[in-house]
Amino acid sequence: MIFNHFIENRYRFLAEVTDAVCSVWPSNRVGVRLAPNGCFNDMGSTDFREQFLYVAKQLNALDLAYLHVVDGLGFGFHELGEAMTLAEFREVYDGVLIGNCGYDKETADEAIAKGDADLIAFGRPFISNPDLVERFEQDAPLNEMAAMEHWYLPTGAKGYVDYPVLASST
Ligand SMILES: Cc1cc2nc3c(=O)[nH]c(=O)nc-3n(C[C@H](O)[C@H](O)[C@H](O)COP(=O)(O)O)c2cc1C
Repeated sequence: MIFNHFIENRYRFLAEVTDAVCSVWPSNRVGVRLAPNGCFNDMGSTDFREQFLYVAKQLNALDLAYLHVVDGLGFGFHELGEAMTLAEFREVYDGVLIGNCGYDKETADEAIAKGDADLIAFGRPFISNPDLVERFEQDAPLNEMAAMEHWYLPTGAKGYVDYPVLASST
């Protein structure tokens, strides 16, 4: 009889890396990031839900600093089933859980208030809003999102350090 060990075997590499890293630093200084819905670099398999819940359960035993889950679909979705949610990870992961991708202040606050995540991480909004935290604090509008062709520029300040901060109110 042939057993399907794919789920356990796919976790082996991450398990060995986490073990190695945690042998150097205390586990509560080490974080892991997962992208269960992503399709970047051909990611995705039909058993993604079983796979990622298995991984999250294994990681739950390691007392890590955090588990960071890219749950949003804004960077592409493999469409191999219903997208995984933070709530699913919350059920199997007791430690600090971070969500990410496509959030704004309102949806981030909502996810935290519902208990689906402890923190929400922001990527692209920080590129075009160097003072993102202050803007959130003041409920101020955000700058327009940087265009993808401005994410990586070989030289110069354009698209790198030239996004305007909020005009000073004093
Ligand atoms: C310029 C840029 C570079 C990124 N590089 C990486 C990377 O090397 N590894 C990774 O896991 N995610 C990378 N990401 C994805 C971000 O970490 C984040 O998941 C994504 O921007 C979605 O969050 P957001 O909607 O808040 O931007 C990158 C994103 C951007 C915009």
